[in-house]
Amino acid sequence: MSVKPPQQRIVITGFMCAGKTTVAKALARRLSCRMIDLDYIIAEMEKRTAGSIIDEEGEAKFREAETQALRVILENNTARIIALGGGAWTIPQNRALIREHDILTIWLDAPFELCWQRVLSDAEMRPLARDHTRARKLFDERRALYLLADLHIPVSDSQSPDATAEEIVGKLPGFNQ
Ligand code: S3P
Repeated sequence: MSVKPPQQRIVITGFMCAGKTTVAKALARRLSCRMIDLDYIIAEMEKRTAGSIIDEEGEAKFREAETQALRVILENNTARIIALGGGAWTIPQNRALIREHDILTIWLDAPFELCWQRVLSDAEMRPLARDHTRARKLFDERRALYLLADLHIPVSDSQSPDATAEEIVGKLPGFNQ
């Protein structure tokens, strides 16, 4: 059964391959609202994927495009749910932008090995997670920043995206009242 959309917009963050886009889609279905994927918008604006931009022009150039795309979404897009790329929330300027728009932030906390296995099998190139050591280091460094999100949702391989979405709905402020 679908329910009334939330008043507040929602941002979903978490490490690469934590399931942000999939859960954002499930949540959008559950809340009968629209979702948007930041990396998808970057790819549309830049005419190539996030991974290609990093690979061809470096991370700094990608982060510029990412902040620009985030600003466009926050200011012009009415989708209630925004799935970020894994690094977007770690950039102070992006967190400030998200806070300015009074958006509820949700951290999908997936275990490293689950993310890593998905990175290995996913078709999308992730230049910042080229090997296990580098990916693990990034994962550990970012945890403290993901912890700054408003809601913390642990996820596991055995839990379906729909179940995770349901859990999020149960934790939305003022929702089931
Ligand atoms: C990145 C995550 C990727 C993509 C880019 C950089 C990161 O998105 O934005 O490769 O810094 O963690 P996913 O989180 O969807 O893999």
